[in-house]
Amino acid sequence: MRKLSPTFIYFFGALGGLLFGYDTGVISGALLFIEKESWQVSSWAWMEGWITAAVLMGAVIGAVVIGPMSDRFGRKRLLLLSAVIFFIGALGSGLSGSAEMLIVSRIILGIAVGSASALVPTYLSELSPAKIRGGVSTMFQLMIMTGILLAYISNYALKGVSGNWHWMLGLATVPAALLFVGGMFLPESPRFLVRHNDEQGARQVLAMINDDSDSIDAEISDINLMANEEAHGGLQELFGKMSRPVLIMAIGLAIFQQVMGCNTVLYFAPSIFVSVGFGASAALLAHIGIGIFNVIVTYIAMKNMDKVNRRWMLNFGAWGMGISLVLMSAGMMLDTHFGFAKYLAVIALTVYIAFFSATWGPVMWVMIGESFPLRIRGLGNSFGAAVNWAANWIVSLTFLPLLSFFGTGKIFLIYAACCFLSIWFTSKKVIETKGKTLEQIEAELHHRVHHLES
Ligand code: GLC
Repeated sequence: MRKLSPTFIYFFGALGGLLFGYDTGVISGALLFIEKESWQVSSWAWMEGWITAAVLMGAVIGAVVIGPMSDRFGRKRLLLLSAVIFFIGALGSGLSGSAEMLIVSRIILGIAVGSASALVPTYLSELSPAKIRGGVSTMFQLMIMTGILLAYISNYALKGVSGNWHWMLGLATVPAALLFVGGMFLPESPRFLVRHNDEQGARQVLAMINDDSDSIDAEISDINLMANEEAHGGLQELFGKMSRPVLIMAIGLAIFQQVMGCNTVLYFAPSIFVSVGFGASAALLAHIGIGIFNVIVTYIAMKNMDKVNRRWMLNFGAWGMGISLVLMSAGMMLDTHFGFAKYLAVIALTVYIAFFSATWGPVMWVMIGESFPLRIRGLGNSFGAAVNWAANWIVSLTFLPLLSFFGTGKIFLIYAACCFLSIWFTSKKVIETKGKTLEQIEAELHHRVHHLES
């Protein structure tokens, strides 16, 4: 087996996140131009809803169908498969000549996005030593944010080019091809190899990321212990009594991350900028500024992820996001009475984004990737990712109706309430995972179930 540097492994292992970010971020800008196509559609608003929802719908399918296959066929093979699906979806979207073709291509893209969101956190967590696992797994969110930033830049840079939206959507073929080529060199996850009786292969992979041979021996014997535990695996184990604590934790984290409103705030940002007097073009530039800010904050989070307890981060983030949302909402509601209120809204929005990017954004994906027992890790992560996508879809579907019912300011109070509720959830249901090996986490969860029983 060719020896690779950990940086190469982690970079290509996380690259699926960049496609996730680009493909979800690019559509809002592209839609402004797609709207000008003289396609025969009965209602443009309806079509636009479908084009946006297609990725979310595909992502639920991708997470449910493709992710679990990784327990059987390996994490690497399925990552390669997702790169192929990414490529087909991006090519189809870029070449679309009708609304139907665009929707189908976006569903295909969604399948790739969903499978990447299930596979990447699993792969990264299984390939990193416990003491740096949080930072390595945060690379996924860093890639997502970078992808979103690239999408904003491409929206801005290509707006004057002829056939602009075709290019915006089609450009995603480039990172998809890169993921496939780089992915071919990636090693299989050592945990998967041990479970499939290739201890020798697992040792070689662990040697690439770990230079201490004693700790490799200890890690192999720990993995063996967990891999050989008597359990059924599959859905029966995922929904069985032993997995209940981790399942509840994953479902809660996945839902809360979305109902705290991260995607709606990002979506709403340009109009908040316009409301404080930015012109449309300056608002788009400010959007790029937010994208850069997001990447920087996520990078800082990555550097600190293994220093601070994850539960503490979740609660700190929830307080920060909740309070910012209340202030943002107040700023929007007071806007007609006091001139300064608009600025309060802009500052609160920026602070909200900083808290999200430093805490719930990355921590949810990190924890989903590291909490499930080995035998059902692929399945469990896929389930968590699918719940996250379904919640994302519900928030985006309900956003416009709620907005017209409550008005611009008040709607954000609903998301703020969810932030405060998450603090209760984290305190009751989330276990601390920082610095523990995946096998220690598994043992602790088992212990918890036995403790509850006795
Ligand atoms: C997280 C969320 C995702 C969101 C992204 C950027 O990865 O899971 O839904 O789009 O952060 O905010």
